[in-house]
Amino acid sequence: MGARIIGTGSAIPTTCLTNADMEKRVATSNDWIVTRTGIQERRAIKHGEDLMDLMHVASTRALDAAGLKAQDLQAIVVATVSGEYYFPSTACLLQERLGVDTIPAFDVNAACAGFIYGMSVVHSYAKSGEYGRMLLVGADALSTMVNWQDRTTCVLFGDGAGAVVLDTQPGDRGLLSTVIESSGALWKLLHVRSGHRQAFDQEGIQPKDWGIQMKGPELFKVAVRALADVAGKALGRSGLSSSDVHLIIPHQANLRIIQAVAERMKVGMDKVYCNVQRFGNTSAASIPIALDEAVREGKIHDNDIIVLNACGGGLTWGASVVRW
Ligand code: ACO
Repeated sequence: MGARIIGTGSAIPTTCLTNADMEKRVATSNDWIVTRTGIQERRAIKHGEDLMDLMHVASTRALDAAGLKAQDLQAIVVATVSGEYYFPSTACLLQERLGVDTIPAFDVNAACAGFIYGMSVVHSYAKSGEYGRMLLVGADALSTMVNWQDRTTCVLFGDGAGAVVLDTQPGDRGLLSTVIESSGALWKLLHVRSGHRQAFDQEGIQPKDWGIQMKGPELFKVAVRALADVAGKALGRSGLSSSDVHLIIPHQANLRIIQAVAERMKVGMDKVYCNVQRFGNTSAASIPIALDEAVREGKIHDNDIIVLNACGGGLTWGASVVRW
């Protein structure tokens, strides 16, 4: 039996902030942002818009692609750090929107690696036989958590939601292995205090130390090593190596990180899916959005070996290997 991804979906905000828009906000330039990160534009929710709407659309698209109804689901897992409430969980709010009741619904908090941590959860459920049909969502709105006066972070992030529907089916296709790791010792490299939100177009006073705090260069080095190593471990656990990989769908944080990881893994960039140019770093949403695009663009074929890997605040990192 294998936990197969049988449907994908995604949704992004309508508001697009280009690098030219960023130049009007902070002392930056299109050239600096593109050279250091690859990012050309990102999507952001406006004041009054709700990430839950994007999660709902992404989930509905994934269910439609799977040919299922929400009532067919047995569990809902949401990877996010952007919940509107301390409780209930974002997953419970999504459950209400989807009009499905009594099945378990809960959130996973592993920042940008949240979707892979979610994969670990659904993979375990599938292996144990506890739940068969599951919805896994990755969604974040880090644009509401950056200090819009801080040029070192505000240019990097965007918002969005992605979803996958999994079904446990006979055969050897589906999730082959998932490896997750954390280093609490490194939490100070990337963090944001809870309790305050502010959309990019919202007036108000932000305390100086508010918003995402990041030690970019240190994080860059840890991320490259961790992403390559954990992908290798996940492949090894499935009895595979980099040469077996058809497509890597990495967390979309920075094009230079993605290229450095591919080089370390000895995989050509033609086997790496990138959309960081258009969306920036959408945290837990980045892998499911990229996966949905790759599927809809016909880049993934039956029995392809797909690697998903991510690294984020915690620090947390992980990788999943899927036989499509
Ligand atoms: N525009 C113009 N100049 C800038 C900007 C900006 N937006 N941001 C920083 N600078 C300046 C700095 O102030 C510095 O100036 P100085 O030399 O006068 O002090 C100079 O540019 C170089 O700054 P560095 O931080 O050393 O630049 P670096 O080449 O390391 O790039 C970056 C910074 C893009 C943040 C990089 O370190 C990075 O991508 N790190 C990983 C961060 C990340 O991806 N975080 C997301 C979560 S973790 C993850 O998902 C993997």
